[in-house]
Amino acid sequence: MDRIVIQGGAKLNGSISISGAKNSALKLMAAALLTDEPVVLTRMPRLADSRFMGHLLARLGVSVEEGPGPEMTLHAGRIADTYAPYDLVRKMRATFNVLGPLVAREGRAKVSLPGGCAIGARPVDLHLKALEALGAQIELSEGYVEATAPKGGLVGGEIELPFASVGATEHAMLAASLARGESVIDNAAREPEIGDLADCLAAMGAEVEGAGTSTIRIQGRERLSGVRHQVVADRIETATYALAVAAAGGDVELEGGRWEHNKVLWRAMSDAGVTVEPSDAGVRVARNGSQIVGTDIETQPFPGFPTDAQAQFMAVMTMAEGTSVIRETIFENRFMHAPELTRLGADIAVHGNEAIVRGVKSLKGAPVMATDLRASVSLVIAGLAAEGETVVNRVYHLDRGFERLEEKLSKCGAQIRRESE
Ligand code: EPZ
Repeated sequence: MDRIVIQGGAKLNGSISISGAKNSALKLMAAALLTDEPVVLTRMPRLADSRFMGHLLARLGVSVEEGPGPEMTLHAGRIADTYAPYDLVRKMRATFNVLGPLVAREGRAKVSLPGGCAIGARPVDLHLKALEALGAQIELSEGYVEATAPKGGLVGGEIELPFASVGATEHAMLAASLARGESVIDNAAREPEIGDLADCLAAMGAEVEGAGTSTIRIQGRERLSGVRHQVVADRIETATYALAVAAAGGDVELEGGRWEHNKVLWRAMSDAGVTVEPSDAGVRVARNGSQIVGTDIETQPFPGFPTDAQAQFMAVMTMAEGTSVIRETIFENRFMHAPELTRLGADIAVHGNEAIVRGVKSLKGAPVMATDLRASVSLVIAGLAAEGETVVNRVYHLDRGFERLEEKLSKCGAQIRRESE
């Protein structure tokens, strides 16, 4: 199993180019099931998760080709199978999003209940409610969901989400695009990935209004066409490298990073004493000599502070002057990085959904273990600033969501390398 070895203390200077967003790319890949024409995704991140989604789609009959460069072509000329087995769904929650498109196009599907990062219970009740609102009949048995569309296919409907779930909003949008008539999603999630999916579905022929607000209206089509679509820049990768610069010090331009997708984070980083500003190429982040100041955050659905950047922010706060309170409101078990950061000398007390981080003068390198994707990268951030050597084990978590991480960081001067056992 690979591990990442970091010699801390090197400042980061230069530029990092931001990849396409993992969490958008995976849903865009599912959209390819909605049409018998090719879907070409550009700025496609090469990640373990996108490969995994590709395997599942291939099993369903989709031809999946990578290249040239960061491009992927998916062609679902014919759906060969509407069954997504446990082995191909359990590892990654986004694979569950094939259910809606399959039912919309083929009238029925059987998909295993999902797995994914161990950050909380993560049920799929809202996804199923959304499909039911479009007329699907849902049955649960032996860990599988079987969904059947009425004769004549799914029909537009009113979907009211009690919580603005990202996955359920996307799932509803995918299915509604190939349902007859109008669907309305109330209390829809407003994350930039929703806007990206809306743009893609609209280019495929659906009429989509209101993405980015709490009410999305979709006029479904009997047939959707192929599309060439550029995946939106990854706001969490942008946030992660910004926080790496905050921790290690230096001056880095995040090329392609979208300023408007991380405004609450930028405010928190400014409050903490880090320079962040929009630049021609994207976002510039710098910290040269100034001390980080303890800053409180609370995770919220977009446009609030993203839960996917909470661990990385905590890593920076471990070295701040003063105390920070970090509250996690999206997932109930998303502080698994706290004990690992403590191994590096951090002072963190977790009480329920709140972590109290008392800043220490410096962290000291140590062997640590990655537990989930964002937790893993928070350990890399801490390692960049720690004195001496940090070894991050179980790197496969990182490979799920960060493209060429060591390469991007070492280009800016980080002493970081991958070792294989
Ligand atoms: C997406 O997960 C992302 N994953 C997550 O990123 C991200 O943390 C999350 O949105 C919030 O921004 C992908 O896009 C693949 P939710 P998702 O549905 O869609 C509860 C990462 O590290 N809920 O908005 O699963 C749920 O348990 C990952 O890249 C239900 O109760 O998030 C959670 O507490 C981790 N019933 C809350 O809602 C449901 O049917 C938010 O979940 C659905 C969700």
